[in-house]
Amino acid sequence: MTTPFLAEEPGYTSSYLGDQHAGQLARLRTLESAFDPLSQSVFEQLVLPARPAILDLGAGAGSLAAWLARRYPDASVTATDIDTRLLMDLPGIHVVAHNVVTDDFPAASFDVVHARALLCHLAEREEILTRAITWLRPGGWLVIEDVSLQPSLSTENPLLRKVAQAGVTLLEQSIGSDMRWADTLPRQLRERGLSNCAHRTLEGRIGDGSAADTFWAATTAQAVPALLKLQLLTQQDLDAMADLRADPGFTEAALTLVSAWGQVPALDRNDAASRELHNEP
Ligand SMILES: C[S@@+](CC[C@H](N)C(=O)[O-])C[C@H]1O[C@@H](n2cnc3c(N)ncnc32)[C@H](O)[C@@H]1O
Repeated sequence: MTTPFLAEEPGYTSSYLGDQHAGQLARLRTLESAFDPLSQSVFEQLVLPARPAILDLGAGAGSLAAWLARRYPDASVTATDIDTRLLMDLPGIHVVAHNVVTDDFPAASFDVVHARALLCHLAEREEILTRAITWLRPGGWLVIEDVSLQPSLSTENPLLRKVAQAGVTLLEQSIGSDMRWADTLPRQLRERGLSNCAHRTLEGRIGDGSAADTFWAATTAQAVPALLKLQLLTQQDLDAMADLRADPGFTEAALTLVSAWGQVPALDRNDAASRELHNEP
């Protein structure tokens, strides 16, 4: 797809979702309030070693990394981001400036690699998924969570569908996001040979005053200047959408958070014995 109207290189940091926006921290907090409960419930049912090494990629404002450090006090928690400004002052967390597109970690360094609302925005998402698995130890868990906008793209409400399509087009063109990719996550993990794969989803609704509704509104508000500038929506569309959302009779599923996880197969005894025999790590 060509992007004749975009002067800047596409990418998260230069986009309307980047940290240069005054409201970014507040917007990320709305995302955390909406999604932390599902993420935490996923971690609660994983069996982890006594002192797990946990990596949270693209950790944003860090609420989940902070929760992980509290939940697993003996763990080593590493939180990365391309922009670490919002990760400062988090106790017990190792913060690393790391671009997951270009930077690596040594093989077999972690017991858990987690990423939320990150890979859907990166064009290299499937290659990163494959690389992230190499950073896991045998028996380690890959936990990937991403947002799908499919519910609002397929709604029967024409105004919500129009607003969602405009948002998806903006995200595709300005960042390279794929806002339907999350729906493929369970298959992506199975296809990469992970075992014990499973997934859970959270339906995010709008118009009901929920945490997901607040996140949707904060993200849409941050996108308004770009949506208008690129003529993806008019001010009348935006006003009509605000009226619809405020209508007490209106509520609609707008997004799904898909949380998918799978485990790197543990070395069986024969493999382990053979490695020992050949003095391999
Ligand atoms: C939508 S936020 C999600 C933050 C956090 N994972 C959460 O769910 O609360 C996406 C985050 O990914 C970061 N990010 C974008 N591109 C990245 C890259 N190439 N490498 C590492 N982090 C990146 C952004 O700076 C931002 O903090």
